[in-house]
Formats: sequence, structure tokens, C-alpha cells
Amino acid sequence: MTTERTAENLPWVEKYRPSTLTQIQGQTSTVTTIRKFVHEGKLPHLLFYGPPGTGKTSTILALAHEIYGPNYKNMVLELNASDDRGIDVVRNQIKNFASTQQIFARGFKLIILDEADAMTNVAQNALRRIIEKYTKNTRFCILANYAHKLNPALLSRCTRFRFSPLEESAIRAQLEKVIIKEHLSINEEAMSSLIKLSGGDMRRGLNVLQACKAATSGSGSTDSMDPVEVSRDMVYECIGAPHPADIETIFDSVLNDDWSTAIKTMMEIKRVKGLALIDLLQGFVEILGNYQLNSKARIHVLKKLAEIEYAISRGGNEKVQCSATIGVMKEAMLIQAGASQ
Ligand SMILES: Nc1ncnc2c1ncn2[C@@H]1O[C@H](COP(=O)(O)OP(=O)(O)O)[C@@H](O)[C@H]1O
Ligand SMILES: [Mg+2]
Repeated sequence: MTTERTAENLPWVEKYRPSTLTQIQGQTSTVTTIRKFVHEGKLPHLLFYGPPGTGKTSTILALAHEIYGPNYKNMVLELNASDDRGIDVVRNQIKNFASTQQIFARGFKLIILDEADAMTNVAQNALRRIIEKYTKNTRFCILANYAHKLNPALLSRCTRFRFSPLEESAIRAQLEKVIIKEHLSINEEAMSSLIKLSGGDMRRGLNVLQACKAATSGSGSTDSMDPVEVSRDMVYECIGAPHPADIETIFDSVLNDDWSTAIKTMMEIKRVKGLALIDLLQGFVEILGNYQLNSKARIHVLKKLAEIEYAISRGGNEKVQCSATIGVMKEAMLIQAGASQ
């Protein structure tokens, strides 16, 4: 990174990455516990796991800065297991780092191994031995999305912390800060859509907000005094998620129109809005959740929609799956009607 790279052209996820533990939103019990470990001088090997954008990397980096301050560079080794998957690279880097004596600083060195669940099983086994070998003067912090992809022997050497999807209040608090700093304005409708669409992932929320700003301020003058207004439509557009109104239009058509009109409506909205069926499915499931259905019809449609989602993920034909989607929703209505006769 060069010094010319000002905060202005950094992605917001980096620009607003918490630099201290107090700036981490949510995850309070985790932060409290690891702070306590540090204060008591009893830092174990750590494992942080959980979905993306919940603060795993930010938390360990902030903790490391808090522990080492200006000595950070000498005392902390950051490795990304998904960049250099080969265990040899990891082993050598760790060996070199862990075995050099610290002349000025005391205490443990810290090795952060990000995205460790991308490592092969062989590599994880080797890592376990490395951890054992260097436990005398190093501590490891392993970061992963899925604990179940890690070798049990590796797991058993670490104290585990689960990073849950962030609560809406945590996402809101951070987004509000950024909105003020970036000279944006947003109404409550747009804000709550943004929070909902973030799905507990702060990275997603920040990226969408930044995309919204980029979409509006492309050519406009930057020294205008008026804040840039972010609307709900922009949020949906930037995230590539279907607008609830479009989902409802398709849903109504499926319920009330004949087959060919329904499929035309769906195809047309998909084309105009640039949506894929996979984007629509979640919207349908949500609408169906609020819809009066008997349990037989509900189970049927949800099960079938899940199968369609799976089929798409396996490369199933989009048009065939669209017809199938309309089919199962119509079928659910027939089951429902049959029961009420
Ligand atoms: N708990 C949090 N509090 C504040 N910001 C967060 C939090 N979690 C994530 N972020 C923001 O999202 C970005 C990505 O977070 P990161 O810590 O890399 O997530 P993870 O490692 O869990 O995928 C960070 O740069 C930061 O801007
Ligand atoms: Mg991370």
C-alpha cells in the first residue's frame, strides 16, 4: 500500500474497519472474554468462527494492536490460508517467525491464520503439530467460516468463539456512523431495507451503501452542501435484490392469472430488472410465510421451492426452473383450495 492511497479511495469496509476493540459492534461477550484473557495474561490459542462480515478478522487485528501497540509488526504474523494453501509455505513462514528471538519485546508472539477452513486436511494436521511445537512462545488465532471444516484435533487445541450474524442494532449503529461521515442521508424505509438485506453481514451492508453513493455521485459535484440521499429503490438496485413490489406482482400473477400470463409476467420482470430466479425465490418464501396456507400446502410449496433452489445451484436450466416455480406455487393453491372445499 502506498502513502498516496488516501482514505478517500479505500473501500469503506477498510476505511471503517474498527481499529480498537471498543469499536467492534455487537459480539460483546466474545470481546469481554478475550479482553479478560489478555488482562490475566492467559491468552489461549483462539478459534473465531462464523459467517462472513461479522468481525472475526477485525476483532483479532484490533486485539493484536491493543496488546502490542507499536511492536505489532514484530510480534504478529498474519497469514491467509486461502492465498497460499500449501502447508509448506505456511510451515516455513511460521517457523521463521516463531523461532526468531525477540530481543526487545516480551511475551507471546501471535500468529493469525485467516480462512483456515480452506486448508486441506493434510495441511491442518501439519498445522496441529506446528502449534504444539511453538506453544511455548506463540499463540495462534485461527479464523474460519465453518468450524466443522476444521480437523477435530486442531479444534481441541483452541478456545472457540462463535461469531453470530450481527444483530440489526449493531449493523444500524455502524451504518449510521458511516452515513454521517460520508455526508449521506437516508430515510428509515431505506435504512431498514439495507439492514434487512445485509443479513447480519456488516461487510455487505457497507459495500451496498458505498455502491449507492457511487451510483448517485458519479458526475455530480462533490462540494455540494446537500447530503446525498439514499433511497430504498437504490438499496435494492445496488444489492441486486428484487424489489418487494416486483415479488408481489409476480406472486399475484401466479395466483390469479392463467399459466402463460404468469410466466410472461415473471420473465418480463426478470428481464427488465436483471434478476435471476435464485434472487426471486427468497422473496417468494418470505411472502408465503405471511400467507394463509394450511400446513399441507405450506410444506409442499416450501419443500419444492427448496428443491428448485438446489437445482439452480447445480446448474439447472433457468427457464425450466421458472416454470417449475410457478407450477409448485399454483399446486400449493390447489391443495389449499381442495382442503377448504
Ligand atoms: N462487529 C463489527 N463491528 C464493526 N464493523 C464490523 C464488524 N464486523 C464487520 N465489520 C466491518 O466489516 C468489514 C469486514 O469485517 P471482518 O472483520 O473482515 O469480517 P469477517 O472476518 O468476520 O469476515 C470490516 O472491515 C468492518 O468494516
Ligand atoms: Mg475475515
